[in-house]
Amino acid sequence: MNKLENKVAYITGGSKGIGLGIAKSLVAEGMKVAITGRDLATITKAAKSINANKTNVLAIQSNVSCFEDETKAIQQTIKHFGQLDVVIANAGIGILNSIENLTPQEWKTTIDTNLTGVFNTVKASIDAIKKTQGYIITIASLAGTNFFEKGSAYNASKYGLVGFTQAIMLDLRKYGIKVTTIMPGSVTSYFNNHIPNEEDAWKIQPEDLGEIVISLLKMHPRTLPSKIEVRPTTPKK
Ligand SMILES: NC(=O)c1ccc[n+]([C@@H]2O[C@H](COP(=O)([O-])OP(=O)(O)OC[C@H]3O[C@@H](n4cnc5c(N)ncnc54)[C@H](OP(=O)(O)O)[C@@H]3O)[C@@H](O)[C@H]2O)c1
Repeated sequence: MNKLENKVAYITGGSKGIGLGIAKSLVAEGMKVAITGRDLATITKAAKSINANKTNVLAIQSNVSCFEDETKAIQQTIKHFGQLDVVIANAGIGILNSIENLTPQEWKTTIDTNLTGVFNTVKASIDAIKKTQGYIITIASLAGTNFFEKGSAYNASKYGLVGFTQAIMLDLRKYGIKVTTIMPGSVTSYFNNHIPNEEDAWKIQPEDLGEIVISLLKMHPRTLPSKIEVRPTTPKK
């Protein structure tokens, strides 16, 4: 994908944080972007915050844990922009609780969003991505390789997501489709009810992940970085 101008990306969880940051970076490259979130008013406001020609950004309400929602959202994206070149399965939540206190509902919501949600997004977009020989990127986490206390649900979802993404990379590369999982460490966002503030300066910023996504998309067709760990250069003191 040498020229990004007018290519079409679908980004789940684009209302804030990492998804919105990546959307801004792609629009700055001349791409057309559909962003999703669970609440229409919130996602519409986020779309307006992307300083772009209105026709380049589409806001869609979709809950990734619902396959029908994702199917309709992908269809809406293709109807609006005419094609689909890039899928970024980013939407995710962080419920951190000790196994003694973790509720069955917290477990289910985490897996439904962070793991089944990515399956739903990918499954709904396969036919369209095959047509364009496009790119699928999942946003996993270093929590997909490093486990920690209170992380049972989150670790399970992200370990699962890393395995899922690597397996579909093998399934799809024979069609010329690239698949990468990005595994970030600490990123400034609203994750786990955090409010971004000046003490977050040591963390990765959403636009830094935007830069990584752009370099992946521009990489020569013959080369595929399939799994990328990314962390703050200097850990919190
Ligand atoms: N921040 C970090 O340090 C960090 C590190 C590694 C990996 N990650 C991963 O990065 C991804 C993005 O998180 P973030 O840090 O940017 O957090 P964030 O600021 O809380 O943003 C999360 C996004 O996901 C959306 N979302 C949540 N549940 C959804 C659902 N069921 N359907 C559709 N959209 C949904 C939210 O939209 P609405 O609330 O409007 O629905 C929001 O746009 C997650 O997968 C997270 O695990 C984050």
